[in-house]
Amino acid sequence: MKKTISIFLIALLAMGILACGKPAASEQKDGAPTAVSEQPETTVTEAPAETVEPTAAPEEPVTEQLAEPTEAPTAEPTEEPAPHKTVLVVVFSATGTTMGVAEKIAAIEDADLYEIVPAEPYSDADLNWNDRNSRSTKEQNDTSARPAIASEPIDLSGYERIYIGYPIWWGEEPRILDTFVESYDFGTITMIPFCTSASSGIGRSGKNLAEHAIGGSWLDGKRFSGSVSTSDLENWINGLK
Ligand SMILES: Cc1cc2nc3c(=O)[nH]c(=O)nc-3n(C[C@H](O)[C@H](O)[C@H](O)COP(=O)(O)O)c2cc1C
Repeated sequence: MKKTISIFLIALLAMGILACGKPAASEQKDGAPTAVSEQPETTVTEAPAETVEPTAAPEEPVTEQLAEPTEAPTAEPTEEPAPHKTVLVVVFSATGTTMGVAEKIAAIEDADLYEIVPAEPYSDADLNWNDRNSRSTKEQNDTSARPAIASEPIDLSGYERIYIGYPIWWGEEPRILDTFVESYDFGTITMIPFCTSASSGIGRSGKNLAEHAIGGSWLDGKRFSGSVSTSDLENWINGLK
């Protein structure tokens, strides 16, 4: 009996040893065995010391883009130059009185205005008619005096009628008016003198201008006071037509 028990114990021991030698295995809850795989060791590779310079980004594939057909450019309407006026008002005014009348005439006639500006402006002393040695007195005493004009010359083409205004100096036109009329060929243009004064009439001044001028069809002029009304000027203008 002892011998049987010993054999049984040895057999039991042997089975236990065999059981311990089996590879480990885990069991899922459902009992299916799953392999336990060891996590592979992660290796940290250091960045290479030398970094490669980035090369230029590869060029975009050139796809030839055809320009969108744009609408044919339409010519911007250029501003039409103002139609040339047919009436011109020319004026010399030393102290502004005749200029005021000239502006009224230009407004009535829708005319261009051209000012005769002396190259050497007239000072108060120049205009002193009580001084026999003043510039104006000397010029008026010299029928050949031709004071220079500073204003840009004007192109007279297209004008059909020219009003020409000035103050009366010693009963006549200032000599700078002679400078003006001798500088142009007025051709067939109708020339209409007008003047302002303290009291004197137009006298010979209009005729003097016609004699000095080259061309032009000269009408008798008229003298106005500086305060002449627009309606009086309109009546005069209407009477000329
Ligand atoms: C030098 C000179 C002479 C003048 N001679 C006369 C003249 O003989 N008769 C007259 O009535 N007025 C005479 N005046 C006055 C101007 O004709 C008058 O003031 C005119 O309206 C001035 O025009 P203005 O301001 O356009 O220059 C004379 C003025 C000056 C400066």
